[in-house]
Amino acid sequence: MSEKDSYAVFGNPIKHSKSPAIHAAFAQQCAQQMQYRAVRVELDGFERAAGNFFSGGGNGLNITVPFKRDAYEFADCLSERALRAGAVNTLSRGEDGSISGDNTDGIGLVRDMIANLGWVVQGRRILVLGAGGAVRGVLEPLLRERPKELLIVNRTAERAEQLAEEFVDVGPVSGGAYSLIGERQFDLVVNATSAGLSGEMPQLPSSLLTERSCCYDMVYGAEPTAFMRWAAHHAAWAVSDGLGMLVEQAAQSFYIWRHIRPETRPVINQIRLAMEAA
Ligand code: ATR
Repeated sequence: MSEKDSYAVFGNPIKHSKSPAIHAAFAQQCAQQMQYRAVRVELDGFERAAGNFFSGGGNGLNITVPFKRDAYEFADCLSERALRAGAVNTLSRGEDGSISGDNTDGIGLVRDMIANLGWVVQGRRILVLGAGGAVRGVLEPLLRERPKELLIVNRTAERAEQLAEEFVDVGPVSGGAYSLIGERQFDLVVNATSAGLSGEMPQLPSSLLTERSCCYDMVYGAEPTAFMRWAAHHAAWAVSDGLGMLVEQAAQSFYIWRHIRPETRPVINQIRLAMEAA
C-alpha cells in the first residue's frame, strides 16, 4: 500500500494552527508515512465532517476550538481523562472501526512544566486563573501530581466553585472569586483566561509571587503575553508561555495514533524559531 495514513486537525478558525507543522516534524523524526492537514469546519458541521473523514478512511483527528465538546459527543468510547475533562482533543479509529476519544491537553501541560521546564508541582501551592474549558481539561492531570493545594479563581466566581467541586475527589482543590487570593502567595500560577487574547489580564495582587514562583501562560505567541510581562515585572523565578504544552499534547496524540513517542524538544525549538521569524 502506497497510500499514507491520514490525520487532520478540525477547528474554526484554523488558519494559524501549528499542528500540521508539529506533526510533520514528528513524522519525519520517527520515519512515519502519514499526512496531516488542517481543516476549517463549519460551526454546525462537526459531526458530518468527522463522520466523512473516518468513513473515508481517516485514521485520527485532533480537535481544537470550538469543537472539543462535539468530539466528546462524537466518540464511541472515551478515556477516563476525556470523561473528566468533558472534552476531547484526540479521536482515533480502532481496528473495528469504532472511534475513541481522549484528551491530551492536561498531560501536555504537566509534561511541559515538569519534564521540559523542570518545575516542581508535587507539594506546591498552585493558583489557576480562569474556569473555562481549558481549565477543566487540565485539572485532573495537575491534581494527580499531588500539589499541596490548587485554588481556581475566576471573574465569574460560581464557575470556579462548581469546577472545583467536580474535582475534589482527585485532590485538594477549591475555587471562587479573585478576592480569595487576598495576601496569599503561590508557587505556581497558571493563566488559563482568554483575557490575554485581547492584551488584557486579570487584576492580581502584587504580593502574589515569591522569589521561587513559576508562572505559566497557556497561551503562546511570538511576543510575551500580558500575564508573562506582569510575572517578569514581579520578579517571578521562571515564566513560560504555552508553546511547550501545545507540542506535548500533540506528542501524546501522536503516541496514541502511532505508538511511538517523538522527541519534543527539537520540535518546540523549531516552532519557536519559525514563530519568531514570522
Ligand atoms: P476556554 O475554553 O479557552 O477556557 P472559555 O470557556 O470561554 O474558554 O473561558 C475563558 C476564561 O477566561 C473564563 O474563565 C473567563 O472568565 P468568565 O468565566 O468570568 O467569563 C476568563 N476571562 C475572559 N476574559 C477575561 C477578563 N478580561 N478578565 C478575567 N477573566 C477573563
